[in-house]
Formats: sequence, C-alpha cells, structure tokens
Amino acid sequence: MDYKKYIAERINIDGVGSDEIYSLIVTPPNSEMGDFALPCFKFSKILRKSPAIIAEELKAKYVTDDIISEVAAVSGYLNFGVNKAGLAKSILSEILGKGKNYGKSEVGSGKTVCIDYSSVNIAKPFHIGHLSTTVIGGALYKLYKYLGYNVVGINHLGDYGTQFGKLICAYKHWGNKEEVEKGGIHAINDLYVRFNNEADEQMESEAREYFRLIESGDKEANEIFEWFKSLTLKYVRTIYDKLGVTFDSYAGERFYTDKMQPVVDELKEKKLLKESNGAQIVDLEPYGMPPCLILRSDGASLYATRDLAAAIYRKNTYDFYKCLYVVAYQQNLHFKQFFKVLELMGKPWANDLVHVAYGMVSLEDGAMSTRKGKVVWLEDVINKCVEKAFTVVSEKNPDLENKKAIAEKVGIGAVIFGALYNNKIKDIVFSYDRVLSFEGETSVYVQYTCARANSVLLKNDRKANIPDNYKPNVQEFEVIKELASFADVLKEAAEKYEPCYIARYAVDLAQKFNKFYFDCKILTAEGEAKDFRLALTEATLYTLKSALSILGIGVPDKM
Ligand code: ARG
Repeated sequence: MDYKKYIAERINIDGVGSDEIYSLIVTPPNSEMGDFALPCFKFSKILRKSPAIIAEELKAKYVTDDIISEVAAVSGYLNFGVNKAGLAKSILSEILGKGKNYGKSEVGSGKTVCIDYSSVNIAKPFHIGHLSTTVIGGALYKLYKYLGYNVVGINHLGDYGTQFGKLICAYKHWGNKEEVEKGGIHAINDLYVRFNNEADEQMESEAREYFRLIESGDKEANEIFEWFKSLTLKYVRTIYDKLGVTFDSYAGERFYTDKMQPVVDELKEKKLLKESNGAQIVDLEPYGMPPCLILRSDGASLYATRDLAAAIYRKNTYDFYKCLYVVAYQQNLHFKQFFKVLELMGKPWANDLVHVAYGMVSLEDGAMSTRKGKVVWLEDVINKCVEKAFTVVSEKNPDLENKKAIAEKVGIGAVIFGALYNNKIKDIVFSYDRVLSFEGETSVYVQYTCARANSVLLKNDRKANIPDNYKPNVQEFEVIKELASFADVLKEAAEKYEPCYIARYAVDLAQKFNKFYFDCKILTAEGEAKDFRLALTEATLYTLKSALSILGIGVPDKM
C-alpha cells in the first residue's frame, strides 16, 4: 500500500494540491522520527505562519485510524507512525488466506489485451536475439492474466517473403527429405545459409520463380513450405515449453495475404496513397518520418502492409483494449510509421497500439551476428545455463536429491531472469556466471531464499497462527512493508510494461527476508514471536513464488 498517498489524501492545506503534499512526504532516516514525515517549511509563505505552528495545526486536524495510528508535530515536521501491529496482522491474514492468489485482481475484467511477442521467423534460427521478446512478452502475458485481463498471445510468424523461394530452391538442389526430417530447423537453416553463400544468378532466378509458385498457390511449393513451417514450429514449441510461454494464435504474416487488398483500397479511398517511383506509399513527411511503403513497384506487399492488415484484423476480432508489440527498438520507426498510418485512416484505436521496445542481448564474447550462419541459438544458451546450474547447485549442496530437475529450474530461471532484471530498453550483456550467482540480484538468490523459507516451515509442525496484537520489530516490519506493496508493484509493472519491476521486487523481498532470517530466530523463538515469524516466513514464500511464477520461473522445494 502507498502510505504517502494515503497520508497526502488526508491532509488539506489551502492552495496546495495533494500531489504536491505527496511529493514532499519523506521517510525519516531514523524510525523514532516516525515512519513518514511531512516537512512544513514550504507552506510558511502561503499560510503566513511558522512551520512549527503549521505542523501543530495540521496535527490537530489529522484523524488517526488503524492504518496511521500516530501523528506528532516536532519542530516544523509532521511525523506519522504506521499502525504496525494492525498492518502486520491484516497483510499476513490476507496472504495466508489467499495463498498463491495473493496480489491477483480483477482490474482488467472485461478488457482484452493482445500481445504480439516472440514472433519467430520460419526456417530461420531461433536465436538469443529472440530471448527478450519471448520472456518479456511471456511475463506480460501472465501478468495481465493475473490482473484479470483477457489476454491473447499472438505469435506473428515471419512466414512471408522471398527467402522461402530461396529455401525451396536450395532444398531442390542440395537437400533430401530424410536429412531435413532428421535435422529439422538446423538442416533447413543450413540450406538457407548455403544458398546465401553459394547461389549463382541461375539459382537466384529459380528462387524468384519458387516464390512466385508459393504465392500463386502451387501445390508442391506450398507443401514444401508448410513442411518447413511445421518443422520450425515443432522446434520452437520445445523452447516455449521450457520457458513456460504459450500462445493463443499463430496467425503470421501469411495469414494476412488476402486481408491486405481491403487495406490498400481503404487507403486509396481516403486519399492517403501516393505514387512514388512506381511504388505506393503513404507520405509521412509532415510528421517528420520517411514514407511508409505499402506496395512495391512490382505490386508486392511489405512488412508494414501486413502489420496494417493485422492490426485491423485484431481490432475486429478481439476488440482489444490494448494491443502490445514486444519488438526490439531497432523497429521503432516501423511501429511509429504504421501507427501513424492507422491514425490517418481515422482509426481512433490507433492510440491503443503500443510498441513495447527492448534492447539487445549479447553474450560476453560478443557473439550475436545473424549473418552467414554465425548465430547463437537460444536453445544452446538454455542448455549451457542448465548444465552450469547443475555444477553450481551440486557444489552448494552435494547431498541434494533430484539435482537434474532442480538444475533445470535454476538454469532456465536464470536465463529468463537475466533477460528481465534490467529495464527492457537497456542493451544487456548476458553472463552465465553472473546470472547463476547465489549472491546478488539473481533468480538463483530468490529461489534459494524460497528453499530456505521452505525448510524452516518443514521443520515446524505447527500451523501458522497469526497473533493478534503482535508489534513487529524493525526487521519484521521491513518484510511486512515489502509484502504489502506487491499489488502496487504488479499494477505499476503492467502500466509501464516493465516486468523488471517484478524481478526487482522479488530480489528486494528476498533481501529483507534474509535480513530478518539472520537477525531473528524463528524456530527457537517462543510464543507469539514464533507464531508471527512462521506466518511471516510462509507469507514471504507464497509471495516470492507468485512473483517468480509471473515471470515464468519455477521454484524448487530444496536447493
Ligand atoms: N518477425 C519479426 C522479426 O523477427 C518480428 C515481428 C514482430 N511483430 C509484428 N507485428 N511486426 O523481426
């Protein structure tokens, strides 16, 4: 809960808005001065009174309740004391009552959010560059569901383009069925790379013909294409399973083949289409952007044309409240352009389209190139991380049972968390050692904290029983405050499209819990203190697990 807001709303000063009061409230360094304080110096001028008198008068008017139970005026400051016992009891009861549903809400009820994410390219490598879109999109998907929204996960497949002509041509020259069937996406990618390295003019022209054949509905060309597509999807689904992400629709670029003409017609009718060197464009110069290309001079459609058709289709089909595109910032201009075109077409909902842009991920050795086959496959990153997790986990606890299953959760969690911990727009350098560290801001640290909490609870046979009037000490109250802010963190993460807020929250909560764990005895405490601490431990475990599960990260019982 936002105490500052709560306090600000309960203070009236003529000529000063509650937003300003809110921004003035501070957290005193020393809790003897209260949990929150409002310095009254700034109001002196307007009210023509001394800060001390203002503080006294505000104190006299302030009505305490079971949230803010103390108020005092001290040398020009108005100090507030939170009702710690009351807050502790109510938060713990709420969490233990709701269990893994703590923080869930219905704010999104009746609203649909479409999330376009991962959006892989058929027959191309699923590489480390797709990590962020997949896990950020996956986390937003779960977050919005958690908040009661109806969510549609869309994998806008890259399954349209001249490269498929090249691929079929390469297959016809060098490929064979068994090899491709066996090698799957890797074999297909090898063919594509080989084409780019070795194809001569003759093959290039054959490739164009194959592309034309796909487009014109030729049976054989389409069968080969569909086969490549199914092999790609089969492959990427194994990775999605590991990362815990799901989709409700795989309607990719091809799906819009027959839905682009109406868009072109509408653009024409609204006099937005212009000819430029034989191509059809929408002029965006007045908006400081290069033109949006709609049809090439040979009549072929473009990426933007398909996105226009897709946006309209999604609006008609899902009537979304928001449609998010989790796509790298390299495509900033593309999104700005086609959003603008929709606005010019008079679609009021163009404002509900959001480009959720994110930065690049590279490995420490700099590997990332997507050209000429030198790519880092996401699958390899995941496998390597799980392998390393096995070593790390075994070193920490050699007697652990089910090390393999635990390493899987730890390793995959580390890959996801590594990509989610920073603000999404930042470029990140992925380091195996860093993401797998037990110390520091990692999923491993949070998972280990969960295992610690779990082991405390397992050693106790008493059912957590929350005492009524227990006044928490400093360490306990720090945990309580953190637990109490979970719902606000989720709301904020959803509003800003920033799963990293949840990742950071999990680390903060784990840190506060560990401080409490090391400073206060739990199992050897007595009476109410023991009851309270067990309840606090259980509530922390539920909350950490929920936070991680929204990010797609599982929690082992032991580590
Ligand atoms: N397949 C595209 C790429 O890899 C991303 C598609 C994103 N979604 C969209 N509606 N444009 O760059």
